[in-house]
Amino acid sequence: MSLRALIPQPILPVIVIDDARQAVPLAEAFLAGGLRQLEVTFRTAAAADAIRAIRTALPEMLIGAGTLLTPDQARAAIDAGAQYGLAPGLDEAIVKLFANAGVPYMPGVMTPTEIGRAAQLGCRSLKFFPAENAGGAPALKSMLAPFKAYNLEICPTGGISLQNMRTYLSIPEVITVGGSWLATQKMIAASDWALITRTTQEALAAAAA
Ligand code: 3PG
Repeated sequence: MSLRALIPQPILPVIVIDDARQAVPLAEAFLAGGLRQLEVTFRTAAAADAIRAIRTALPEMLIGAGTLLTPDQARAAIDAGAQYGLAPGLDEAIVKLFANAGVPYMPGVMTPTEIGRAAQLGCRSLKFFPAENAGGAPALKSMLAPFKAYNLEICPTGGISLQNMRTYLSIPEVITVGGSWLATQKMIAASDWALITRTTQEALAAAAA
């Protein structure tokens, strides 16, 4: 399945969750703001349980598992019900694991060589990371120019904000932008669901403007 079907909206919240009990209220806060997609990163031990809880309670939410650094984490993400995976870099073992499981996977790339390698491994959906520090939207645009024929789908993440997200969204290959600003670890720890709903509404309105 194309990632466009799994990440149909222009904003992808990148979540670091410490307590899986907060997963469902957090996902409800996004839904209340009009967003039905999120990435739960495997940066905490709560990630798999958080994905499982949201998949069970809110089947309308489209969930990716992020920061998958090892095949074990990739397996745990798939077992928990993640609908696609993401990583900051490109790991062949993880690419194969997702392909064998029939689950979409988006490795991270930062250079033309990495794009070429990912494409040879069958990956057409790629994360551009760390987007701002790698040169931002102008660098991404230049780098994609020779790869037009590959029909790439790109999700830039790293340093993306309400202020700069539209520079990325104007690039045809960019299907969505990822970022932690929509629901920071601090906002989640404080259970500030109303603020997360407002931030989500603001981001979706800005993306549509
Ligand atoms: C990611 O994991 O995709 C990025 O670290 C998110 O980056 P940000 O915190 O700068 O939004």
